[in-house]
Amino acid sequence: MRSYYIAGNWKMHKTVAESVTLAQELVEQLKTCKHKVMIAPAFTALSAVAQAIRGSSIVLGAQNMGPEAQGAHTGEISPLMLKDLGVQAVILGHSERRHSYLETDELINRKVLLALEYGLQPILCVGETLAEREAGNLEAVVGSQVRDGLKGVALSSLGSVTIAYEPVWAIGTGKTATPEDADAVHAYIRQVLAGLYNQKAADSMIIQYGGSVKPDNVSQLMAKPNIDGALVGGASLKVDSFSPIALFV
Ligand code: 13P
Repeated sequence: MRSYYIAGNWKMHKTVAESVTLAQELVEQLKTCKHKVMIAPAFTALSAVAQAIRGSSIVLGAQNMGPEAQGAHTGEISPLMLKDLGVQAVILGHSERRHSYLETDELINRKVLLALEYGLQPILCVGETLAEREAGNLEAVVGSQVRDGLKGVALSSLGSVTIAYEPVWAIGTGKTATPEDADAVHAYIRQVLAGLYNQKAADSMIIQYGGSVKPDNVSQLMAKPNIDGALVGGASLKVDSFSPIALFV
């Protein structure tokens, strides 16, 4: 049986003080939450948020990570530095990284492998643009993002990996994939995973949906058999919108 995993990607928002306030509110509101919940503040707020959520079941995540453990990489953050702050999970290959910062599948794969090597749980983001979907390339694009992103990941490490399907056209636009559409893509991803590993591994993998998830659409999305959680952007920035998502059942 898969369990639900709800993650909040705070993107480039909030000062340290604002991040701590939200984290404290979430600790309070999510005491009875039955699902795994992760929050990913900006790098600058990780340390303070780590203190704020200490003792709660909320997992601390980072939004990105550099592809090396240490060295001359100006401006990058290594898995060692994240671990040092108590980070357990890391979002990799987000479409904003792929499209605005030209991250390739090869680079993202290096980050996934490095995260696993250092004991961080990667969330590998995949998703097609509207143009790719309309050209009939959805499966080719998402399939290769999954295959390339997981290259060299051993079956024994797969339990630490989450996939997030985030159609680029649904991010921050208020347009959500219909639950049926999203479920079909999740089922396809599971088929790719079964080909790469085996059916049992594919069936146990958590696949989150991301793209305009809100309190009023979360239940319909989560009711679908292949949707196991959410990666939430805008609605994760306020306790009043993230709590009902995390507490959806
Ligand atoms: P929104 O929920 O704002 O559409 O963002 C989704 C996202 O990109 C989460 O990583």
